Amino acid sequence: MPARNLSIILLAAGEGTRMKSMRPKVLHEVAHRPMVVHVAAAAHEAGSDALAIVVGPGREDVVAAVRAVVPGATGFTQYDRLGTAHAVLAARAAIAAASDDIIIAFGDTPLVTADTFRRLRTPLAAGAVAVVAAFEAANPTGYGRVLREGDRVVAVREDKDANPQEKRVTLCNGGLMALAASQALPLLDAIGNANAKGEYYLTDVVEIAAQRGLRVAAVTVDEADIMGVNSRAQLADAEAVMQRRLRSAAMEEGATLVAPETVFFAHDTRLSADTWVGPHVVFGPGVSIETGVEIHAFSHLAGCTVARGARIGPFARIRPKSRIGADVHVGNFVEVNRTALQTKVEANHLAYLGDATIGEGTNVGAGTITCNFDGADKHPTVIGKHVFVGSNVTLVAPLKIGDEVLIAAGSTVTADVPDSAMVFGRAQQVVKPERGKARIRDNRIKRAARKAKGG
Ligand code: UD1
Ligand code: CA
Repeated sequence: MPARNLSIILLAAGEGTRMKSMRPKVLHEVAHRPMVVHVAAAAHEAGSDALAIVVGPGREDVVAAVRAVVPGATGFTQYDRLGTAHAVLAARAAIAAASDDIIIAFGDTPLVTADTFRRLRTPLAAGAVAVVAAFEAANPTGYGRVLREGDRVVAVREDKDANPQEKRVTLCNGGLMALAASQALPLLDAIGNANAKGEYYLTDVVEIAAQRGLRVAAVTVDEADIMGVNSRAQLADAEAVMQRRLRSAAMEEGATLVAPETVFFAHDTRLSADTWVGPHVVFGPGVSIETGVEIHAFSHLAGCTVARGARIGPFARIRPKSRIGADVHVGNFVEVNRTALQTKVEANHLAYLGDATIGEGTNVGAGTITCNFDGADKHPTVIGKHVFVGSNVTLVAPLKIGDEVLIAAGSTVTADVPDSAMVFGRAQQVVKPERGKARIRDNRIKRAARKAKGG
């Protein structure tokens, strides 16, 4: 069988009224990715060659977000919001250009999967002209009902237009629909707006096709897959489902999650087999972890790579543009920002390492700070291999420290240090014999006198 082409029409012209946001609804994020981009990515994964997105006037930002994952996506504008069929026809040129399968999806269903798209196509290959994504709803109120006669799908009746008998139907329309390209325009152009909402309903395609003796199929989908987000609470529900999926996928890949329900992923987090993740770890976008890495409780990582055998946390923060080398230890209350730690670097406690490159085997003492920001600009700190940075060292960037340097505790280092040197950047210690004991006695006497006076 020759491969069939897939064209996706993504509807995203509806503004979410209940989000109370300056941002268009479909750009709200789930697992750090806009909802509409999740849908586009699933379509792309399902093998779509062509993706058209229908947006409201002035919503180039929505088109641009989709283009970030599907560069060839084309944007269409629906100027008046006259219903789902009207929205689809805003992309008339894309429908006319489609050769085989068309899937219409909504931009506010971030949980839809590539598998659902694939399953909707199957009946098209077998001769159906339209396929609805159906599910058994616990509460069908608000959904279109899928009406059947025998095993034929004859109509989808919108909730507001349904008679009492139709309202009792619990098989509902999930919203996603597949159409055969050859029949799409004749069917869509036949849709009118004589209904309860005065809208052009995409779902009327079903009744029109059935009346023309064309075959319509229903594919049963998971209700979670087609869940639409209309409010902040539903956004949180979608996030919860997505997090469960991401946790399962990570464990499927061989990562141990000690307390999976406390670990939060971004859509693109990549763990490897034998990554170990303790409780309460949060991943921002762009994290990739190699095998054998341990990430202990309460660590936060974003935009970084962590090489094999490294140990992160507890209570570590790795910020974007950081590279953590093999067998590195980053301990509690250590912040790493735009910094590369090469193999076996240890920064075990209380440090800020920003805009730095730290060479293999170097030990960073507690309280070490790179002063990378002078109030106007950021500057780099480059530290060589096998350096010993004592505790509470202040490294004033720009700064270059050679290999095998020893920096004494408490130093403020402001000038470059050559290989093999030892550097002291602190005041000389002064010792006054007996002076301490005398002061302590004086103080004790003063306090006793004050107390006797009733002070
Ligand atoms: C739609 C279905 C309904 C189904 C339900 C599932 C129709 C007529 N009804 O109803 O059978 O049970 O989804 O959630 O299709 N949109 C536009 N322009 C418009 C109208 C809508 O772009 O003029 C977009 C919206 O942004 C949204 C999607 O189409 O993403 C669905 O529109 P909505 O009005 O929410 O349809 P429902 O009433 O939920
Ligand atoms: Ca809806």
